[in-house]
Amino acid sequence: MRSWPEDRVAFGGDYNPEQWPRNTWTDDIELMRRAQVSFVTLGVFSWSWLEPAKGEYEFDWLDEIMDRLAEADIAVDLATGTATPPPWFSLAHPQVLPVDHDGHTLWAGSRQAWCPSSPVYREYALALTTQLAQRFHEHPALAMWHVSNEYACHNLPCYCDTCAGAFRVWAERRYGDLERLNDAWGTAFWSQRYTAWEQILPPRRTTSFANPTHQLDYHRFGSDTLLDFFRAEKQVLGTLSPGVPVTTNFMTTTAFRLLDYHQWAPHQDVVSTDHYLLESLPDPRAELSFSADLTRGIAGGRPWLLMEHSTSAVNWQPVNRAKAPGQTLRDSLVHVARGADTLGFFQWRQSLSGSEEFHSALVPHAGPDSARFREVCALGEVAERFGELVGSTVEARVALLWDYQAGWAANGPAMPSQLLDYPLTGRLLHAALRRRGVTSDIVHPSADLAAYDLIVVPTLYLVSDEHAQAISHAAEAGAHVLVTMFSGIADGDDHVRLGGYPGAFRDLLGVRVEEFFPLPEGETVALDAGVAGRGGGEGRIWSEDLYAVDAEVTHRYASGPLRSRPAATRRVVGSGTASYLSTLPDEESLDGLLGDLLEAAGVTPAAVVPPGVEVVRRRSGERSWLFLVNDTDEPQQVAVTGHDLVSDTAVSGSHTLAPGGVAVVREG
Ligand code: GAL
Ligand code: ZN
Repeated sequence: MRSWPEDRVAFGGDYNPEQWPRNTWTDDIELMRRAQVSFVTLGVFSWSWLEPAKGEYEFDWLDEIMDRLAEADIAVDLATGTATPPPWFSLAHPQVLPVDHDGHTLWAGSRQAWCPSSPVYREYALALTTQLAQRFHEHPALAMWHVSNEYACHNLPCYCDTCAGAFRVWAERRYGDLERLNDAWGTAFWSQRYTAWEQILPPRRTTSFANPTHQLDYHRFGSDTLLDFFRAEKQVLGTLSPGVPVTTNFMTTTAFRLLDYHQWAPHQDVVSTDHYLLESLPDPRAELSFSADLTRGIAGGRPWLLMEHSTSAVNWQPVNRAKAPGQTLRDSLVHVARGADTLGFFQWRQSLSGSEEFHSALVPHAGPDSARFREVCALGEVAERFGELVGSTVEARVALLWDYQAGWAANGPAMPSQLLDYPLTGRLLHAALRRRGVTSDIVHPSADLAAYDLIVVPTLYLVSDEHAQAISHAAEAGAHVLVTMFSGIADGDDHVRLGGYPGAFRDLLGVRVEEFFPLPEGETVALDAGVAGRGGGEGRIWSEDLYAVDAEVTHRYASGPLRSRPAATRRVVGSGTASYLSTLPDEESLDGLLGDLLEAAGVTPAAVVPPGVEVVRRRSGERSWLFLVNDTDEPQQVAVTGHDLVSDTAVSGSHTLAPGGVAVVREG
């Protein structure tokens, strides 16, 4: 075994040599050296090559490639191969196939066709993990274990009978007795009272809306079940391959929310994640930054590993556009800016066949004599120069709260508006802060909030008393808190907090809401100029009849049924403040609102930069690095002095960023 490369930002990606003949392997290693690849992830989908028949293991090919990689000084993140079973397994154990919401079996033939609760699957997976750990634990290329792959990407929730049984056990453990469960699920409603455990089923497709707490618990159960599976694999590795760090690649994109990664993170030796741009969003790169800040929060502020992203197009969106020249570097560096110490890609060599043949890679179909591979080599060179910042942390004085469970509940069945998708509010507020050059740590409500001057609480629909109190205490202690619509509504059982919304935050904010007025798609409501007199904007998605009981009104609605009623408020609390926002304002209004709050909180941008330039600072002791990313089509001038690690040149006083250009300036 060897250590993870830390003398540079580790650079590489998924390597699937089993898809290629031996002579390609020789080319691969040569090209990896050329691109300065320092790690690869091997064997993610290799089970059918590692165990072609039950109990018959074939490791020779893996020995050979591991040896070649060791010789080339390329670290291996070795997968346990348990993400997808071979066809012989699925044929022999059809009861392991997952079942969807409608009761349809999901057949093998793509990947991850296994039920998360299956003891049979677990037995075979642990056997393979055992074999691999025994065989490779001392291999000189082995630097990390990569358990399974993107848990839950395709097989959660599963509604099969095995899951039904496991869910009953889970529920019994959670509630102890049926009365407590009946109470938590509110089963007096619609004649749902359970009188025996066997009556409890997964929330399969039914005639009308499912019970929200039942559904919320099914999310919790799914996340817990897979975490338990991960831990079982990790335990095997810990015993047979001690000292080698273990991770599984998360999906901290806001498009995936099936696992509660805050619960998973403490079980990772290092947090790793995958990220792909969501082209359907109005600003995919703002979501990239959000995801990176979320990953850092999940990792407790420590550096994390970007296990996968793409050099160019993916193949799973309706239209998959290639990245523009320079974009690979730009996207990658935003991840590094926000805390990634490793840059991994899917995948090394673009497939010749299979359902990812049109997904980009480090070596494209066009071959190494291509613009893409030249960009890859340039990125490898930059990653090499980044050694000095490995281990440094990201500077942030703003916290933005995120809770997967609040999201599950907020987007449960039969809510006031389906347009209020949980990540939307957080993303809009994060984007507004980013536009102002302000970095936020996206953290769980249980995080230590003491270090933050501004705490943003977007749509925290479900919140425990304890977490609500921690937020109030932070305000009393001097933080400025901004709570948005549809927060504090429910407790952990998804029972509404009575007496007026936003229940848990009513006292802190000094407001009371009686009814919601969500807005249909495309409809807006006018806002007045506000106390700052900046000129009215408009709100969308949501509005509500807000009463300022003990708070100053900062903005009012200026049209519609709520005309002249409060839209936003502020209250002085201890040495801090607590503000409330009852709608989603347009960009300009949001910028103004956050600007006021940042000013009150004394939070300044990482650096003063022209609009359209993303800026983040990483720091280690006395040293600091300023990341500058020009998202505009024009050259942009930034005042900074130091050494730019991207161009490897000195910068004195001012630096011009080319259109789409990036700089990472060691300051001073
Ligand atoms: C990830 C997955 C990879 C590859 C990639 C394509 O979800 O882990 O194996 O499929 O997406 O974007
Ligand atoms: Zn199942």
